[in-house]
Amino acid sequence: MTSRDSQVWDAQAATFDDEPDHGLHDPLVREAWQSLLRSLLPPAPARVADLGCGTGTLSLLLATDGYAVDGVDFAPEMVRRATAKAGTFPGSAFVVGDVADPALTDGAYDVVLCRHVLWALPSPAQVLERWTRLLTPTGRLVLVEGSWSTGAGLTTAETVALVEGAGLDAEAHRLDDPAYWGRPISDERYAVVGRRLA
Ligand SMILES: C[S@@+](CC[C@H](N)C(=O)[O-])C[C@H]1O[C@@H](n2cnc3c(N)ncnc32)[C@H](O)[C@@H]1O
Repeated sequence: MTSRDSQVWDAQAATFDDEPDHGLHDPLVREAWQSLLRSLLPPAPARVADLGCGTGTLSLLLATDGYAVDGVDFAPEMVRRATAKAGTFPGSAFVVGDVADPALTDGAYDVVLCRHVLWALPSPAQVLERWTRLLTPTGRLVLVEGSWSTGAGLTTAETVALVEGAGLDAEAHRLDDPAYWGRPISDERYAVVGRRLA
């Protein structure tokens, strides 16, 4: 990670929430993500690390559902907006940091959530091993990723292989429904849940 990387994201912070799946301003899109997260996460109360939290939209969605959420992002302007968005609503806290080695307590999280960040990290296998150490013995990784029409991203098979490489069982869920994105999509979008092997 370089400070230039975080500056690039800082510059995008002001318009980041304009995308339907980022700002969740449309009630139908918001409802789709809320239902998805409720189906993939253990029931609240539970402790969640939202890594690469951006403007904190998913963090706040979870906090309103009764989860305790620690958001980490290396772009100070993203963290400033996430903090402002959460306001005095209880249950969420945001810090500036590199998600490759977050300053969070090992073994403390029921969920490590990450949407649209893993694909861009230089050493995703190493990072997933680090994130797995953050989990409680019954904790789970919830990764939302894609292999986008731009050519960027990770395929479902690549993410499943990475999760399995970290010593977890992986379960993939396709996210084809336009309700998640505010429009029909034709590329590959999905969530992968990783749990410790039984
Ligand atoms: C595509 S946005 C996703 C934001 C959020 N997860 C969401 O889905 O709304 C990627 C975010 O990851 C952050 N990010 C990228 N690399 C990072 C790193 N190494 N450490 C911390 N944050 C990072 C960026 O600053 C940006 O806020």
